[in-house]
Amino acid sequence: MSNFRTVTVKGRQFRVRAGDVLLDGALANGVEIPFDCRAGTCGTCMVHVSKGQTVCGETHTQGMIYACQARVVSDLDVEMEDVPEIDISKARLVGLREVAPDIMELMIAPEKSISYLPGQYFKFTFNGYPARAYSPTASFDGRIGGRVIHLNIKRVRGGRVTTALGSGIRPGHRLRIQGPYGHAFLRPGGTGRLILVGSGTGFAPIWAIAAMALREQRSRPMVIIAGAKKLPQLYMTPILAQLARLPNVTIIPTVEEGPINHPSIRTGRIEPHMPTLTASDVVYACGSPRMVSALAGMVDKAGATFYADPFDPAPPEAPSGLIGRIKTLVARRAPEPEPSRDSGKGREPSVDPFERALSLVPKDPIEDDLAPRRPEPRRSTAAERDHALSLVRERALGEQASLQERPRRAAGQMASGHV
Ligand SMILES: Cc1cc2nc3c(=O)[nH]c(=O)nc-3n(C[C@H](O)[C@H](O)[C@H](O)COP(=O)(O)OP(=O)(O)OC[C@H]3O[C@@H](n4cnc5c(N)ncnc54)[C@H](O)[C@@H]3O)c2cc1C
Ligand code: FES
Repeated sequence: MSNFRTVTVKGRQFRVRAGDVLLDGALANGVEIPFDCRAGTCGTCMVHVSKGQTVCGETHTQGMIYACQARVVSDLDVEMEDVPEIDISKARLVGLREVAPDIMELMIAPEKSISYLPGQYFKFTFNGYPARAYSPTASFDGRIGGRVIHLNIKRVRGGRVTTALGSGIRPGHRLRIQGPYGHAFLRPGGTGRLILVGSGTGFAPIWAIAAMALREQRSRPMVIIAGAKKLPQLYMTPILAQLARLPNVTIIPTVEEGPINHPSIRTGRIEPHMPTLTASDVVYACGSPRMVSALAGMVDKAGATFYADPFDPAPPEAPSGLIGRIKTLVARRAPEPEPSRDSGKGREPSVDPFERALSLVPKDPIEDDLAPRRPEPRRSTAAERDHALSLVRERALGEQASLQERPRRAAGQMASGHV
């Protein structure tokens, strides 16, 4: 038998040696498969094998493989989803504000319009700083796309980029945006129940997906789980309160570290609060890599569809010269840094987190086409908080039983249309 195999990607044919990495073979033959990490984590290179076999590079989605990891062992037919082309644009930071302790909202204006699908991410290189991946979100009032990109970014202790937000990086700062990348984007047309899970700022892409899904199919059953380490970091409360008004949406806020006095909020990690999954569910999980991999196991067991965007830290920069190499060795021996700055340490949050979150709700919190009816007249902040929490409580705690009884159908697969 010949050592070569024939691969067809989107109708284009080429030959590779048996055992070659699919992505390398495609690129060497001038066939573009988008990629980013080349490590089997970002999902950008995921393709569907409709005929033939590969080894390695399996994903949690049936029939899909990571082209950067998979080795060709037989003739192959490969299909790719339609995604916007990777592009580069110059941009400027036009807005920056703290929405919760150590969580910033950034508004970025690209020089030219850029296309992406909700749930995809870009690499942002602020002038003078290394590139970092961030996932655009919808604005707090549910708007997505347009001329400004919204980001939610968590400040990480010792982080090169995030500790500079508000000091070295201020409104007016110039940057470069490259992308979009990633595979955890909303597939339009699906009808299966959407389970959208975001831990910390993993809520950013989750909110983008939810806002677009509600715009496209207002009545699609949806469960949204938003987790935070500590109560003050549950920055998305205003959005959750608005979503809780929708009859098809169930909201489950979770906080890892208690004590929590709000009955609408569940304590502990996200995993135990997941609804019982079935094969027709479509699960999106973004944020903590630990949470994403725990959910992957649950999804596999249920046979559901899974799209994930783990917020893996950027790889260390290549050291230059002897001193750089020594620094890397020392860093490798240093104890693991804490995951994030403890916002409670040394400075008590002076404002009730819900007062703070709800004060950010604009007059018209969710666009007309997203909400089933206009929000009621604005209440005083305290009354508004109680009202918001009672809505979340009703949806989050009262509907557990009905969660598993809702009708479900299979999800659509192919993406189309840009934001
Ligand atoms: C696909 C993708 C999408 C992402 N989207 C977002 C987003 O929308 N919002 C957001 O806030 N972040 C997001 N991230 C994480 C982001 O890219 C950076 O890793 C993060 O902002 C830290 O950057 P830094 O330069 O401040 O820290 P670095 O200088 O890169 O890291 C400093 C130290 O902190 C550790 N570290 C880095 N990130 C974390 C973390 N999250 N938790 C614990 N330790 C960490 C590093 O290992 C290192 O030891 C995303 C990551 C990926 C891969
Ligand atoms: S390029 Fe293959 S998973 Fe990232």
